[in-house]
Amino acid sequence: MATSVQTHTDQAFQQCVSPDCGATYDVGEALTSCQQCGGLLDVAYDWNRLPVPDSLKFFEQKWARRNDPLCRSGVWRFHELLPFAPPEKVVTIGEGQTMLQPSDGVAKFVGVNAGNLYLEYEGLNPSGSFKDNGMTAAFTHAHTIGAKRAACASTGNTSASLALYCGVSKLMQAVIFIGSGKISYGKLSQALDYGALTLQISGDFDDAMQRVRQVSEQLGIYLVNSVNPFRLEGQKTIMYRVLESLDWQVPDWIVVPGGNLGNSSAFGKAFMELRELGLIDRIPRLAIINAAGANTMHELYEVRGNRWNDGHIDQQAPEVYYDELDASGRRASTIASAIEINRPVNYQKCLRALDVCDGVVREVTDGQMLDSKAQVGANGLGCEPASAASVAGAKLLRAEGIIAPSDRVVCILTGHQLKDPTATVAYHTTDQEEFNRVLGSRGVKRADFANRAVAVPNDLDEIVRAIQLNS
Ligand code: F0G
Repeated sequence: MATSVQTHTDQAFQQCVSPDCGATYDVGEALTSCQQCGGLLDVAYDWNRLPVPDSLKFFEQKWARRNDPLCRSGVWRFHELLPFAPPEKVVTIGEGQTMLQPSDGVAKFVGVNAGNLYLEYEGLNPSGSFKDNGMTAAFTHAHTIGAKRAACASTGNTSASLALYCGVSKLMQAVIFIGSGKISYGKLSQALDYGALTLQISGDFDDAMQRVRQVSEQLGIYLVNSVNPFRLEGQKTIMYRVLESLDWQVPDWIVVPGGNLGNSSAFGKAFMELRELGLIDRIPRLAIINAAGANTMHELYEVRGNRWNDGHIDQQAPEVYYDELDASGRRASTIASAIEINRPVNYQKCLRALDVCDGVVREVTDGQMLDSKAQVGANGLGCEPASAASVAGAKLLRAEGIIAPSDRVVCILTGHQLKDPTATVAYHTTDQEEFNRVLGSRGVKRADFANRAVAVPNDLDEIVRAIQLNS
């Protein structure tokens, strides 16, 4: 990506996450990796020279100022904790007005005590997924440095979010790369409707990601995938809102689906910083849940034992694994298309997050995700299949005895139910054979919580009988 105007302030800067390198860059630069060592970059702050409140309660008061766009946004309400851009440059569309919903129904399904299971419902964002938290931050940075075009590769939600910010603000053109046939219709319809230049690449997300990096480099287009460190600054605020909803009590577990690993990386950074600032005294444990058909993090962390190791990570480990995947022709494959990713770009930062949060990684099958999704839906907050990985993962960790019944558990529901109606209808279809045909190849044998439509002739008596029979 091209370097743009310098807006140097040494209170906020970019820094290589590798402690052996630690190279720093101005926040006015648009970079997606360290120019010295190729590592990922953080947005870093000199907190001693910034006005940081001495209590998290400070942020609650901003709720009262609903007419101020910076206070209405669930991201920018926390501006003091992501102070990389001046307030007048912020591009916000009211993202992050999400909720933490306790669910005793889901608690029962997972196996934790009533009152201890919470769903952080990020489907309430303007584009229907958590991505808006990060997009407002990356978009603000792009605007600050004068970008006119912004690009991403996407499994559908990042692209919907970028397209929305471009459509609303008219500040940039959206250029999005998607894998052919790899995106749900709900998400594709958003990109098309919001007017993004949409490129369908013959390949999957991993192919699209590689291409968008090349193209944005070549054409000087601003890249908003989560290799962009500013994206993750926005996504930190999901954790601030979770804490705020719990009256600043730190829960025992945060459980999140893992795809490109941007969320988990951002959550780790959020807790690291809050502890450094003395605003919390304890960090929750982090559980990252892969789909079994796209399980790189699980393989590298749990099976092969790769660790952050004070920043001295084994850089070869993912390369060796990717070579093995290529040699055996294995591509990512899961009904949870949002997390159908084999080469997660935030691997390095994710190891740090797992270290900071004493984390674990698990993999769940498509069947476990769809059953969990049906349970989430039956308890009122619909989500898309990938989101339900968090609930399926919590259930698995509970069964393993790693999560205790008395633990307070927060599952992140990353995307709205309407994002992928095809998967939902297939699960609930009246026709088990059709369900098996669509999903059987993915190891899903039965829809345990299917809510089948009742076929009934257009006859009053028959309709009345059907209602009585099913009530
Ligand atoms: N859940 C949903 C609904 C997603 O859309 C994604 C990622 C994830 C979970 C995984 O989050 O990448 O931070 O680990 N979607 C990206 C996209 C890849 O292009 O929309 P992650």
